[in-house]
Amino acid sequence: MQSVLILLGPPGAGKGTQAVRLSSALSLPHVSTGDLFRENLKLGTPLGEKARGFMDAGRLVPDELVIDMLFDRVGRADCRGGFLLDGFPRTVAQAAALDARLNGAQVRAINLSVADAAVVERLTGRHTCRACGNVHHERFSPPAKAGVCDRCGGALYQRPDDSRDVVEKRLAVYREQTKPVEAHYRSRGVLSEVDGARKPDDVYTALLRAARGEVR
Ligand code: AP5
Ligand code: MG
Ligand code: ZN
Repeated sequence: MQSVLILLGPPGAGKGTQAVRLSSALSLPHVSTGDLFRENLKLGTPLGEKARGFMDAGRLVPDELVIDMLFDRVGRADCRGGFLLDGFPRTVAQAAALDARLNGAQVRAINLSVADAAVVERLTGRHTCRACGNVHHERFSPPAKAGVCDRCGGALYQRPDDSRDVVEKRLAVYREQTKPVEAHYRSRGVLSEVDGARKPDDVYTALLRAARGEVR
């Protein structure tokens, strides 16, 4: 049976950071819609061009663009046994589309919660690798060599949507459009809650337990 793990939570909750570790521990490919859009942007595809304005403004990319891109990705052979979603679904319409597509898969959603003030601190200090997407933080997880990715040696940059004013906008969009997705999974009895405000290793341990269904 296909096993699908969904990481919910505000921008900056640590979804990407944790997804990398969970993906290898659980042998599920890590599928991040934000990363897929940034990949399209880098390649200069028409999809990337359409997404750019929304992303830079901290708004959501329209559902139909996201859903098509996501379904294309999870339709590939490596996702046959399941996958780990980071940043999708982000609207109730996206969640409903995913339900319709999955029918029969084993789904677990985990809500990673972090307070707004911590989100702002995390995102305005984040440095992302241009080559592999790995993230560092200037204080919480600095790279060994300034400006250079620990994982691949690529150049680090600050995402244009990590400026303070865009982060505030992303938080508002999250509250309005993404928060209701939690109820969608809670009502199906497949939602777990994990406190994302702790140290990365502690968050990871809690996520792994929730993913394995050991705790609610
Ligand atoms: P996306 O790339 O998904 O951004 P996001 O959801 O806002 O999430 P982030 O990547 O900012 O945060 P994260 O939770 O991954 O945190 P991270 O691990 O990096 O989406 C970008 C845009 O694309 C959207 O705004 C939208 O326009 C579009 N888009 C994407 N998906 C879409 C969809 N489904 N529908 C419509 N539009 C969509 O950690 C953050 C920082 O904190 C890092 O510096 C990290 O080192 C640090 N950190 C992590 N954990 C800890 C910890 N425990 N303690 C201290 N620091 C920590
Ligand atoms: Mg991310
Ligand atoms: Zn890298």
